[in-house]
Amino acid sequence: MRVGVVGCGLMGSGIAEVCARAGLDVVVVEADAQRVDAGRERLTASLRRAETRGKIPDAAAVLERISLGHDPAALADRELVVEAIAENEQLKVEMFALIDKIVEAPDAILATNTSSIPIMKIGVATARPANVVGIHFFNPVPVLSLVEIVPSLLTSKETTRGATDFVQRLLGKHAITCQDRAGFVVNALLIPFVLSAIRMLESGFATAEDIDEGLVRGAAHPQGPLALADLIGLDTTQAVALSLYEEFKEPLFAPPPLLNRMVDAGLLGRKSGRGFYTYDR
Ligand SMILES: NC(=O)c1ccc[n+]([C@@H]2O[C@H](COP(=O)([O-])OP(=O)(O)OC[C@H]3O[C@@H](n4cnc5c(N)ncnc54)[C@H](O)[C@@H]3O)[C@@H](O)[C@H]2O)c1
Repeated sequence: MRVGVVGCGLMGSGIAEVCARAGLDVVVVEADAQRVDAGRERLTASLRRAETRGKIPDAAAVLERISLGHDPAALADRELVVEAIAENEQLKVEMFALIDKIVEAPDAILATNTSSIPIMKIGVATARPANVVGIHFFNPVPVLSLVEIVPSLLTSKETTRGATDFVQRLLGKHAITCQDRAGFVVNALLIPFVLSAIRMLESGFATAEDIDEGLVRGAAHPQGPLALADLIGLDTTQAVALSLYEEFKEPLFAPPPLLNRMVDAGLLGRKSGRGFYTYDR
């Protein structure tokens, strides 16, 4: 299958990597030449790591299947395109209007990796909403096997079937399907849990260490909810909480003041070096 990936940041580079590792022909489109270089470096570093760990025999052979550039016209012959640009509705709507004009095959699947923007809003930005579907990968993409498939009310059965086949048969990942509602399955369950832990800390009920240790030792979680929030990024946690709150108006989805103040302060978790814990950078 000829795959296109738009955006080669954290997620796009991971998606391009798993596609190329599965033997697919991949075209990656970034915003400009500088970001193409950054994307290539990210991909190369990740593939070299996989080679060193014995996960793939030859990083260079995988890289050869990926062509990177900054001209969206390179997407013209793609059979499936996954968009992974920034989580901004306006940008995604504009990008899908463009992808719709460029991709030639009338039955091509146009997918978005969005975490929180309704698939419907992206679908109706194109003249073929039946072809538009959410294919939501998890970070880090080469490691986590789950992918959520999210059809909108207008997505065709063929598109949903094609997206599921791509994820399961071609990429060897596990697909679950859900309706086009904020948070999909995983974030709708995970984010209120993380927010509850933040409220517990905020109220002085227990320390961050004790809250996390409780869940690690008492519920066999691989890491506690506050360490997990630091990994996701506190800005991302806040953004997903806001989209859940906007959709359902459920108080448990509202970001607590402590989370908002930490984001205001630039304490974003691992990526900024400090969140609920501090990290060497
Ligand atoms: N980070 C996560 O854990 C995670 C998990 C699942 C889904 N997502 C979703 O994946 C998407 C991407 O997130 P990310 O964390 O990879 O972001 P990121 O900021 O790391 O990457 C976005 C990339 O898109 C590029 N880009 C921006 N405008 C572009 C354009 N017009 N054309 C081509 N490229 C363009 C940027 O240069 C950047 O490299 C978002 O929708 C996000 O919600 C993120």
